[in-house]
Amino acid sequence: MKTTIAEVGKFVGHEVTIGAWIANKRSSGKIAFLQLRDGTGFIQGVVVKAEVEEEIFQKAKSITQESSLYVSGIVREDERSPFGYELGVTNINVIHESVDYPITPKEHGTEFLMDHRHLWLRSKRQHSVMKIRNEIIRATYEFFNKEGFVKVDPPILTGSAPEGTSELFHTKYFDEDAYLSQSGQLYMEAAAMALGKVFSFGPTFRAEKSKTRRHLIEFWMIEPEMAFYDFEDNLNVQEQYVSYIVQSVLENCSLELKTLGRDTSVLEKIKAPFPRISYDDAISFLHEKGFDEIKWGDDFGSPHETAIAEAYDKPVFITHYPTSLKPFYMQPDATREDVVLCADLIAPEGYGEIIGGSQRIHDAELLKQRLKEHGLEMDAYKWYVQLREYGSVPHSGFGLGLERTVAWMSGVEHVRESIPFPRLLNRLYP
Ligand code: 4AD
Ligand code: MG
Repeated sequence: MKTTIAEVGKFVGHEVTIGAWIANKRSSGKIAFLQLRDGTGFIQGVVVKAEVEEEIFQKAKSITQESSLYVSGIVREDERSPFGYELGVTNINVIHESVDYPITPKEHGTEFLMDHRHLWLRSKRQHSVMKIRNEIIRATYEFFNKEGFVKVDPPILTGSAPEGTSELFHTKYFDEDAYLSQSGQLYMEAAAMALGKVFSFGPTFRAEKSKTRRHLIEFWMIEPEMAFYDFEDNLNVQEQYVSYIVQSVLENCSLELKTLGRDTSVLEKIKAPFPRISYDDAISFLHEKGFDEIKWGDDFGSPHETAIAEAYDKPVFITHYPTSLKPFYMQPDATREDVVLCADLIAPEGYGEIIGGSQRIHDAELLKQRLKEHGLEMDAYKWYVQLREYGSVPHSGFGLGLERTVAWMSGVEHVRESIPFPRLLNRLYP
């Protein structure tokens, strides 16, 4: 019976055939242990000299790392393996012999691994991170569909700059100028006026000259937008959504979390509601913690965010930032013109901001004034202003950065491991 590693549990006591690769191998005179992987999982194949034809035992002894093969064997339960099963190998057919695979079981430097990202993805650790990424995406669609949101796809080639003009990737669009999308938000606002509650999931691009463990040049964002939702409603959706994806990963990726050595007790605490702290109070808190240099009106750096996050065991919302720090589209607080109805959600354990969101300006005149103040060309935003001229309503939304969320849940240090082919400062290969 041809099957996959993920499915072997259905065939205990029976002989199966699996198309696989050799992840690793060790052998003695009498027995060979093949660490097999097939994409769906990892399983140990045991080849006992006394139990198979001599030719098969010799094949098992000489087979090289990352060779591809069809392997047959009897499925056995195995309590010592975290996966729960092993394969008593009966036959081996090599498909392709791999010679001098560059990534050996010994330690390699980061740059070497990044140069071989196309192969590094095969490792158990990377396999686990990609499975967790997939689970977050799956649970995202499940959550928003359950909650009555409609998935809408904003364009990637655009003429607008929601998050400021300094980090845009420019390209020619025939005779016009175009930019790669930094955020689908403005289009999602139009979609919310048509469909009520919407969400997007797509790639976004930032020509940021930042070389930190939290920054990618190309990253994927989930952007919900809701008509008739105010600032508070917006935070409620965010905490429900983040709790949902964390609990989904805990439920469906236990083997992957174990492989990564993730401390799951910290993830188990991630349940709504999440704490909220205003920007003003965050500044006072930082002064108490000895960050004397920061003053009202300054943006937080990662040491500040980490210090605030450490005061809680859940993600924390920092709300009501100074207007001057945030993009043009945010609704001012009705009682204070100098702050806006926004929140950043800061993940625990130093992973930084995973969500940025706000209530949006719904008054056409105020929006035009802000566009002018930010030096943005009115022509490119005419359609966006029109959303406020034909049945304008209060509305809110947010963007969750997928890679920072994957890194946090997986417990990997750097976002470069949370996307299959990271685009970083000075890295476009492979
Ligand atoms: O805070 P940002 O810039 O917000 C927006 O783009 C809004 N227009 C979203 C919205 O309201 N619809 O980005 C949102 C999130 C951040 O919190 C962070 O998680 C992630 O996107 N992010 C990055 N992730 C990796 N590398 C980068 N360079 C990132 N920049 C932002
Ligand atoms: Mg932000």
